[in-house]
Amino acid sequence: MEDRKPLLQVRNLKQHFKVSRKFYVKAVDGVSFDIYPGETYGLVGESGSGKSTIGRSVIRLYEPTGGEILFNGMDISGKLDKDTNKALRMNMQMIFQDPMASLNPRKKVLDLIALGLDIHHPEMNAEERKKKVYDILDLVGLSHEHANRYPHQFSGGQRQRIGIARALIMDPDLVIADEAISALDVSIQAQVVNLMKEIQQKTNIAYLFIAHDLSMVKYISDRIGVLHYGHLVETGTTDEIFSNPVHPYTKSLLSAIPHPNPITERDRKAMNYDYASSGIDYTKGTLTNIGGTHMVLATEEELEKWTK
Ligand SMILES: Nc1ncnc2c1ncn2[C@@H]1O[C@H](COP(=O)(O)OP(=O)(O)OP(=O)(O)O)[C@@H](O)[C@H]1O
Ligand SMILES: [Mg+2]
Repeated sequence: MEDRKPLLQVRNLKQHFKVSRKFYVKAVDGVSFDIYPGETYGLVGESGSGKSTIGRSVIRLYEPTGGEILFNGMDISGKLDKDTNKALRMNMQMIFQDPMASLNPRKKVLDLIALGLDIHHPEMNAEERKKKVYDILDLVGLSHEHANRYPHQFSGGQRQRIGIARALIMDPDLVIADEAISALDVSIQAQVVNLMKEIQQKTNIAYLFIAHDLSMVKYISDRIGVLHYGHLVETGTTDEIFSNPVHPYTKSLLSAIPHPNPITERDRKAMNYDYASSGIDYTKGTLTNIGGTHMVLATEEELEKWTK
């Protein structure tokens, strides 16, 4: 994987919000990670850790306070010129948590899904446009007759499929899914995640999959980044993170997951981690490689202590 060129490179990304004359919230404070074509990068961390802010900065709903974002080798972190903006709008798409809120209730599914085409390919004729929508409906497991219905006539899982269809019709290289399945029933979550995986195998699309449910992230991600207070504290392949968690925050997250096996579940000990009393200062650590693609945010002393 490492000899391929990354699709997305996030370098020392900072997103600070001014909340009063003197105070800033450092929602994201120096985060770096790469996403390769066709892979799923899972971003996990507790509420308020900065996950959505990273997603929104990457798709440029915000202008980053600092750092660099490269997409297909193109710098998309500063002011965007017209061509770069257009390339970004077409090749990077977002799936939202609440599809109902992002779907105009007065529009038919056909028009909702075709929205991106209407904006970026106004030259397309009605026949082609409809064919494109039907192809995408096939891909996400909805039927052609669904195209003539309205959003309220669908279940939550079906609506999320409409949201996915809408993102996919642009044939994007990267889809950012921010808690895209969190509002769904567990059984439907599995269906939608499996659908996303299937589509990935067919199209080589990459996902930035944002969630706080670690078991879903484990299931879908090739690599994982663990976020805490706006810092990436640990990253690596799903296996590296789950079989050998090093950072105390990652350990506490993993120890909170119940084991399916009742025998090991009996011996599971939840680990508490309190940043304020831990003596750890995230701004003093550096993201250090500890083998393979496994990296941990730590000072030399911390790393020695945690890997002993
Ligand atoms: N526009 C904004 N203005 C000011 N502060 C913000 C803004 N957006 C986010 N924040 C703050 O930045 C921090 C990170 O927020 P963010 O929404 O990225 O967290 P999150 O990890 O997505 O949380 P959740 O799991 O609850 O969705 C929070 O402290 C939040 O209050
Ligand atoms: Mg969020």
